[in-house]
Amino acid sequence: MTSKITNYIRAGYPGIYLLSSEETRVEAELKAIAQSLEYRLYAWSVTEGLIDTADGTAREAQGPMEVVALLEETPENSLCVLRDFHPFLEDANPVLTRALKDRLRMGKTKGKVVIIVGCRLNLPPELEREFVVVPFSLPGKAELERVLNQIATSANQTPPGTELRETLLDASSGLTTVEAENAFALSIVECGQLSATIVGREKANEVKKSGLLELIPATESLGDIGGLELLKYWLVQRKYAFGSEARQYGLPNPKGLLIVGIPGTGKSLTAKATASVFNHPLLKLDTGRLFGGLVGQSENNLRSMIATIEAIAPCVLWVDEIEKGFSGSKSSGSSDGGTSSRVFGTFLSWMQDRTAPVFVVATANDVSQLPPELLRKGRFDELFFIDLPNHEERETIWRIHIAKHGRQPAEFDTQQLAKATEGWTGSEIEQAFIDALYDGFSRKEEPNDLSTMMQVSQVVPLSKLMSEQISGLRAWAKGRARAATKPKTESRGRKILGAAN
Ligand SMILES: Nc1ncnc2c1ncn2[C@@H]1O[C@H](COP(=O)(O)OP(=O)(O)OP(=O)(O)O)[C@@H](O)[C@H]1O
Ligand SMILES: [Mg+2]
Repeated sequence: MTSKITNYIRAGYPGIYLLSSEETRVEAELKAIAQSLEYRLYAWSVTEGLIDTADGTAREAQGPMEVVALLEETPENSLCVLRDFHPFLEDANPVLTRALKDRLRMGKTKGKVVIIVGCRLNLPPELEREFVVVPFSLPGKAELERVLNQIATSANQTPPGTELRETLLDASSGLTTVEAENAFALSIVECGQLSATIVGREKANEVKKSGLLELIPATESLGDIGGLELLKYWLVQRKYAFGSEARQYGLPNPKGLLIVGIPGTGKSLTAKATASVFNHPLLKLDTGRLFGGLVGQSENNLRSMIATIEAIAPCVLWVDEIEKGFSGSKSSGSSDGGTSSRVFGTFLSWMQDRTAPVFVVATANDVSQLPPELLRKGRFDELFFIDLPNHEERETIWRIHIAKHGRQPAEFDTQQLAKATEGWTGSEIEQAFIDALYDGFSRKEEPNDLSTMMQVSQVVPLSKLMSEQISGLRAWAKGRARAATKPKTESRGRKILGAAN
């Protein structure tokens, strides 16, 4: 980051827009840059005026016009940091934009650099070409380690050993230095020592604040998924794909996978289990919020979201129901001046070009909403289709859910249950067993084959109601997507109840 900014200054860029909410950290970095380049450093804010950081002298400049006028008087080879200047650019006051443009032009030959530091990008079109925009990345491990050491020392704690240190640093990645400092301190206050669990919990809260990302505890594993053997095998093959050995072997970073399929067949479940295969944190993206409605802020939100994802990387990013993004962006031209479609476009290019180790698992139900550009090679490594579970898979799903609810699968005739639930999804099987538990509970009895079968007989599976959509989905997937399950010669369980065949 330092060298990037230094290069812009040395190359004579008169305007730099640093995107960050970490004023203190940015300014510390700019101070170091100014020293190394032997530039004077000035800092302005509405409350303090223009301060010469070398001697602390302040010049009064209460408004943006005043400070722009004062810039003329700053010496050659100087950096002037404008704090919270971006709100003044919101409504693009033409006199202000003109004055700033003039200043930048004059400053260019004299080494006078104007640096706007803001958490949002607010540049009117008139100034877009005058400023180079630099997203200031979140602190890396070395910086977080410095924060960690400071907190440990000030709390009279012995510095954490290598293993704890690594888990603490992983748990705090994606936080700003101030947030990390708070999380470390809170952990000491709460339990008297540095705890990665508490830091991780605080990070989950911070991440959630943006309203777009959620850090989800990965409690599901591949063992919780019945069937889908090919998909599971594909994932297991990539288990160590983010490691340095894979790079040495000549493998590229995996990009991720797109899972399409019938509702309730385990798409979201697989996405969650992926995080435990890789043993990386799982971030869930709220597609609806990012691509719909948040006009104006969407681009800024996307930028800070990507910064968070990349700082937490290696991680798994779960984009549930990605087609929602497309439906928002399709109508975007008429409803929000194209913001949603622009944001979605930026998101897709990030998916294609990213270098950070982020494994994307996207899921979709409604393939009619998926445009070809999403399916283009390079965005995902593979596209999987999940069909209704076959007989064997249903049997496994019954066993998984019986065991998950604290009962013995061996005490049930899962073979018969699987037979009776032909055309059912995993989610429906789970629900039927829960219904059987409720029934047993109300009668103060344990559920058994008979009572479970009773519940099964009362349910009309979705596939019966949606047979046309399911046939359509299968036809779409044929030749386009890889099957998550090995095709069986027997048609058992593949048949849609109520369909012609
Ligand atoms: N193959 C499976 N093995 C075990 N459980 C399953 C399976 N498929 C579904 N389930 C159960 O059903 C629940 C719901 O499934 P999930 O949310 O993964 O479906 P989905 O495909 O994402 O559906 P939707 O399209 O509606 O989002 C899971 O949490 C799990 O308990
Ligand atoms: Mg789902």
